[in-house]
Amino acid sequence: MAVAQISPEQQVMQMGSGYWASMVLSTAVRLDLLEGLAGQPGSASQLAAEHGYHAESVVRLLRGCAALGVAQEIAVGVFALTELGRLLLADHPRSLRDAVIMLTDPGHWNSWYQLEHTVVTGQPAYQKALGVENVFDYFASQPAESERFNRSMASMTRAFVQQLREAYDVTRFAVIADIGGGHGQFLGALLQAAPQSRGVLYDLESVVAGADAELSALGVLDRVEKVAGSFFESVPAGADLYLLKHILHDWTDEQCSKILERVAAAMKPGATLLISEMLLAEPPALSPAALMDLNMMVMTGGRERTASQMEGLLSSAGLKFKRVLALPGPHQLVEATA
Ligand SMILES: C[S@@+](CC[C@H](N)C(=O)[O-])C[C@H]1O[C@@H](n2cnc3c(N)ncnc32)[C@H](O)[C@@H]1O
Repeated sequence: MAVAQISPEQQVMQMGSGYWASMVLSTAVRLDLLEGLAGQPGSASQLAAEHGYHAESVVRLLRGCAALGVAQEIAVGVFALTELGRLLLADHPRSLRDAVIMLTDPGHWNSWYQLEHTVVTGQPAYQKALGVENVFDYFASQPAESERFNRSMASMTRAFVQQLREAYDVTRFAVIADIGGGHGQFLGALLQAAPQSRGVLYDLESVVAGADAELSALGVLDRVEKVAGSFFESVPAGADLYLLKHILHDWTDEQCSKILERVAAAMKPGATLLISEMLLAEPPALSPAALMDLNMMVMTGGRERTASQMEGLLSSAGLKFKRVLALPGPHQLVEATA
């Protein structure tokens, strides 16, 4: 079958209208229309009737989903999900449902709208858009959005865990502490691979309070100690392996040094620290990390970094950079010791 070529003009228009795609996907997911196609193909008008939505608009939205490749119109007004579309279902093992919703939630959407403000002034967009000093204060004040943020972090983690387990032996660590570990998806998945190990889940009070469901679903609740607090003040001491996954990119260099100093103070001699981030290429090269770097600039005032910038941060906190482990996906692991 011939592959459809798109012209340079169409490519530019696709980029320029990229938010149409975000909105089509997230609306179809929010309104549970794709879930309605999970078991078998369905008629758009029937789905509209079941939910009480406007029939013609549902047909048009699902056609938009078909144009994006997540559904197919198999007869007039009748739609089936494609393999891509299945990734948007809640019970898919690698579901990205929550992530797709989160990316158009007001916190992200309104902050990205202020990208221009950041580029002109250097001030983080979220401060202008959301009126808060620290974006995590915004999430603490928006329970539904925060729940989706935590779930979407967890769903992105699921894809990453398998790669990490293949690249790195975690079974040799008796106590594994995940610092800023969210709902414990990452820690829990690692403990599943290390049945003799115990875990410490450390995050803000409002976040660890919601972690039990995830930890029980992973079957590790009885091996995890949940500790609430701020990593700017202290970090639980005495673990053999410390994890900082997608933490440092949320913060400025100065704030990262503070977090790393707290981690260093908690680490006993011989303990290991693993940092997971998308590292920027050195010298600069095409990489998805460049767009994630912008997301951090907008959403948190943080940044992605190169391996040498990471090394600099680690040594500023008295930690020793050991190596970078490249994983197959866009994320890398930086290993350091106390
Ligand atoms: C980008 S999320 C990463 C979550 C998780 N490590 C992952 O990779 O899925 C950042 C995490 O840092 C937590 N966090 C933010 N400020 C914190 C603080 N001062 N002390 C501890 N955790 C904090 C947030 O609640 C959130 O769970």
